[in-house]
Amino acid sequence: MAKRAIITGVGHYAPPHIMTNHDIEKLVDTNDEWIVSRTGIRERRILDKELGTSYMGVEAIKMLMKDKDLDPKDIDAIIVATVTPDTIFPSTSCRIQEAIGAVNAFGVDLNAACSGFVYALMTGASYIETGRYKKVLVVGADKMSSILNFKDRATCVLFGDGAGVVLLEPGDDPDSGVLDCVLRSDGSGKDCLYMEAGGSLHPASHETVDKEMHFIYQDGRTVFKFAVTRMADVSAEILERNNISGSDLRYFIPHQANLRIIEAAAKRMKLEPEQVVVNIERYGNTTAGTIPLALSEVYYSGGLKKGDLLVFSAFGAGFTWGSALVRWAI
Ligand code: COA
Repeated sequence: MAKRAIITGVGHYAPPHIMTNHDIEKLVDTNDEWIVSRTGIRERRILDKELGTSYMGVEAIKMLMKDKDLDPKDIDAIIVATVTPDTIFPSTSCRIQEAIGAVNAFGVDLNAACSGFVYALMTGASYIETGRYKKVLVVGADKMSSILNFKDRATCVLFGDGAGVVLLEPGDDPDSGVLDCVLRSDGSGKDCLYMEAGGSLHPASHETVDKEMHFIYQDGRTVFKFAVTRMADVSAEILERNNISGSDLRYFIPHQANLRIIEAAAKRMKLEPEQVVVNIERYGNTTAGTIPLALSEVYYSGGLKKGDLLVFSAFGAGFTWGSALVRWAI
């Protein structure tokens, strides 16, 4: 019988510097009431300018290693989901690998935007299920402030910086761990949510800087329409195909992009408010960071016990979207 991948540890990091909606009111024509009513966001964290995404990943892993008393030499692989790598190459995972002294691990970055953590979790779980690897770190981390245009009110109010991590290890119980995953992509969404320059199509030049092509761009209304249906679709699908009803879940831990998107998915799954994990008001959208950050906060507040059923769901640029069904095993 193939092994299951079980989550045996978690950690998170949010930079200490808080930027409130009132702080943003001083930068662009917006107001706290608009941001809260349209998104649910009240404040977000901003990482120091001179630090990169790897810093947050390392801090999240340090929290996990302390809790687990984990020797970094025992880690086999580090998968980092991010759209804001420290550098395009070398990978952020290699930087993290060096920083934590995981001398026996290989590292790889994965880009699925806001769905990155769900994709990376599935990838890490597959590594474990092959039997080849025993300890895989799956990090979701983004320094969104590095690609935000603080003159564009349509985007700068939405995002923040943060990171989370889980440790995957093999488990024998077929009913525990990462039980199922639904992953989807639709490349026709590429013109609705993107950062145009900095890749091979539009390498950095005076022109790309002058035209502000190194910032995130979003057609919010179109993305909202897709996100609200697609995230609800995969959340409902993973329940249906596993013969589970919403009331069986301990927690639904969704990507935190917009409270209205979260509420639509929760309604479709027929969940009670106390089953839905929401921290968007404190962090905004930290892209690949949202789900592991929220999971870790629930864990450290004592909210998880062995046997709890969890669903993670996300929607992001690409378009990409997906959900994962997990039974808590520790
Ligand atoms: N402050 C004040 N007004 C703003 C604003 C801001 N920060 N941003 C936009 N507006 C204005 C618009 O200009 C527009 O004005 P108009 O009616 O005069 O043209 C009005 O508010 C409504 O804009 P709209 O974009 O239709 O608002 P919305 O209700 O769709 O909310 C988002 C905007 C971005 C919050 C919402 O579309 C959203 O959450 N989209 C999806 C984000 C997402 O899930 N991303 C997923 C992947 S990460």
